[in-house]
Amino acid sequence: MAKREIRFGVIGCGLMGREFASAAARWCHLLDLDFAPRIEAVCDVFLPATEWFKDNVPSVRLATSDYTELLADDGIDAVYCAVPHNLHEQVYSDIIRSGKHLLGEKPFGIDKPANQAILRAAREHPDVFVRCSSQLPFFPGAYRIIQWLREGRFGKIIEYEAGFWHSSDLNPLKQINWKRKVELNGEYGCMGDLGMHVYHVPSRFGFKPRHVRALLSKIVEERPDRDGNMAPCETWDNAILACDVKMADQEFPMTLSTKRIAPGHGNTWFVRVYGTELSAEFTTQNPKQLRFMPYKPGGEQEWRVVDMPYESAYKAITGSIFEFGFSDAILQMWAAFCDELTHGPDMRQPFGCARPEEVADSHTLFTAALESQRTARTVAIA
Ligand SMILES: NC(=O)c1ccc[n+]([C@@H]2O[C@H](COP(=O)([O-])OP(=O)(O)OC[C@H]3O[C@@H](n4cnc5c(N)ncnc54)[C@H](O)[C@@H]3O)[C@@H](O)[C@H]2O)c1
Repeated sequence: MAKREIRFGVIGCGLMGREFASAAARWCHLLDLDFAPRIEAVCDVFLPATEWFKDNVPSVRLATSDYTELLADDGIDAVYCAVPHNLHEQVYSDIIRSGKHLLGEKPFGIDKPANQAILRAAREHPDVFVRCSSQLPFFPGAYRIIQWLREGRFGKIIEYEAGFWHSSDLNPLKQINWKRKVELNGEYGCMGDLGMHVYHVPSRFGFKPRHVRALLSKIVEERPDRDGNMAPCETWDNAILACDVKMADQEFPMTLSTKRIAPGHGNTWFVRVYGTELSAEFTTQNPKQLRFMPYKPGGEQEWRVVDMPYESAYKAITGSIFEFGFSDAILQMWAAFCDELTHGPDMRQPFGCARPEEVADSHTLFTAALESQRTARTVAIA
């Protein structure tokens, strides 16, 4: 099948930049697509970080430490950008102004004013396709819950709960990194780092919180720096956001939590939807399993557990009995980005990366959560 090639630049060649390049390298994993990415340019302010790309991605023809050089290149259609949060406003806005499509990493601006500046640039360039990365909903168990939400299968929602929990920061000897610094990660702390991953699915279904009561915690107050001296940790480690959602036809509580220090949780992203006709839970701790309980009035309340087949949003060569993982989710998300960029609303399946307005709502929520913590009150969300 003839494929439209989308010529990508990657800005930020760290952890996530490499993850994306590896996904592009196995595009042959996906079946029946009429588009494909091709990484032609890479940029990192620390030039040696581009070496891995030059060694492993034969299509790379430009490696630079100056992202404006990449943006000036007419041979690049779109950019994947994964740089620290303090750079999002400037770099994302410049990408959009250069006319290149953008898949940017969360939180899409270090704070709400930064996010608003990026969105302003996007509004001024309506021909530029802008999305925020969010791969975890592409796990088959999560994707099935999303399908059920779309089909209205839950009946009246009783409660929605979702979270993203990490635990490596439980180790007080872990070296401090940029995510512990307000200047680089932002005042949101763990909410900026993990929150969009949690908020993407509810925001897609219009579950907008009316109020939030936030409980934010700082647990490890200092960590060793590169020289072994102790440096202060400035950002919030954990956040629990208790929200209420009011929609035209229903009202329910929604609890969203993001934790850097959740003992034992490696990269646990989970969603639980309890409804009057169906309840369902998925967690990446048991990435194959989907738990669900259909219910009819007076019927048995019996939870079922299914080992989900490898049933992905975009068909893949993997046999249905095999397991789905993190790098598969990245590949699926990138397919969704390229699909929506190529086909717009006629994309092959309906779930895509986070939209700018969904990201904007997440900033409104996290900003209100900071106020709630400061005042120890429930805060109304405009
Ligand atoms: N989607 C996910 O699951 C996920 C996971 C981790 C991080 N992230 C997000 O990805 C982004 C980057 O995080 P990371 O973990 O890859 O960080 P990282 O520190 O591993 O990589 C960031 C890279 O950006 C480079 N950089 C800094 N300033 C630059 C500039 N001006 N121009 C070009 N390059 C520059 C750094 O040298 C570094 O190599 C953040 O927004 C983070 O929140 C997303």
